[in-house]
Amino acid sequence: MARIVVVGSINMDLVTVTARFPGPGETLMGERFLTVPGGKGANQAVAAARLGARVSLVGALGRDAFGDQLYTGLQREGIDLTHVRRLDDTESGTASITVASGENQIVVVPAANARVTAAQVEKSAAAFDGADAVLLQLEIPLEAVEAAVDVAARAGVPVILNPAPAQRLPAALLKRVRYLTPNQHELAGVLGENADGDFRALMACAPCPVVLTRGSEGAWYRDGGEPVHQRGFKVDVVDTTGAGDTFNGAMAVFLDRGIDEAVRLACAAAALSVSRLGAQGGMPSLRETEALASALK
Ligand code: RIB
Repeated sequence: MARIVVVGSINMDLVTVTARFPGPGETLMGERFLTVPGGKGANQAVAAARLGARVSLVGALGRDAFGDQLYTGLQREGIDLTHVRRLDDTESGTASITVASGENQIVVVPAANARVTAAQVEKSAAAFDGADAVLLQLEIPLEAVEAAVDVAARAGVPVILNPAPAQRLPAALLKRVRYLTPNQHELAGVLGENADGDFRALMACAPCPVVLTRGSEGAWYRDGGEPVHQRGFKVDVVDTTGAGDTFNGAMAVFLDRGIDEAVRLACAAAALSVSRLGAQGGMPSLRETEALASALK
C-alpha cells in the first residue's frame, strides 16, 4: 500500500450548474446549487485514498461550519489529519465554481489556506518519513511549498508538484522536483513563457521532468529523453472540476509502477472523475481505474 503525504489547500466548493456562463453585469437563472468538498490539496488526498493509499494531509481549516464539514468528510475518507490545523480567527477556504456544459470557472478565497506556514510543514516532518511520494500544489503560500520540498529531500521522498494555480517558480525549486504536472497554460506560467507555442518546446525548457496534462487528449511526459504520449480515455463529460487533482493523486499512488504505468493509470482515473458532478464526486476506486486502464492496453 502506497503512503502519500499531501501538503495543500482544503476548500468548500460552492457549485452552481447553469446552461452557460453569465456575461459581466448579467443575471442568469441557474439549474442547480451544491456545497461539496474541494481544494486542490484535499482533492489530491482523497483521490489517493480512494485508490488505496495511506494518506497524511498537511493544511489548515477555520473553526467554522464549513471547516467542521470538511474535517469530518476527510476523516471519513480515512485520511490522517494530525497535521491539519484548525484556526479560530479565520474562515475555511472556499471556491465559487460555475459549471456550464462540462466547463468551469472558479474563484478561490484562500482564507485559512493562506495561513499554512513553513514552520507548520517542518513540524509535520515525521509524516514524511518512509512515504512513497509527496504531493504539492500552489493554493498555499510558496514558503510552505518550499519547506515541503526541503522536508521531502531530507526524508528522501520524491516530490510531485502540480503548479496550479500557476505562478512563476524559481528554477532552483523546480530542479528539486521529481515530476512537475502542469497543463500547457500552467507550464507557460511557471516558466514565464508564452502559452501559445508548441507545448513540446515548452516541456524542453523545464529544468525538471514534466508530465503535461492535455484533458481528453491524455498526457505527454518527458523524463530525460523524447516526450511520450499517453492517449486519453473516452468518457461522457459532466464536470471537469478536480480531474487534474485525480490525475495527481493517481500519479503519486502508482509512481512505484514506473512512469509509463503511472501516467496510464492517472489518465484512466482522471477520465473516470469527469463523469460525475463535483471535484471529489467522481473520484474512482482502484478496481474501476484498473478496469478502464486495461480496456485500452
Ligand atoms: O482543482 C479543483 C479545485 O480547485 C476545486 O475543488 C476548488 O476548490 C479549487 O481549489
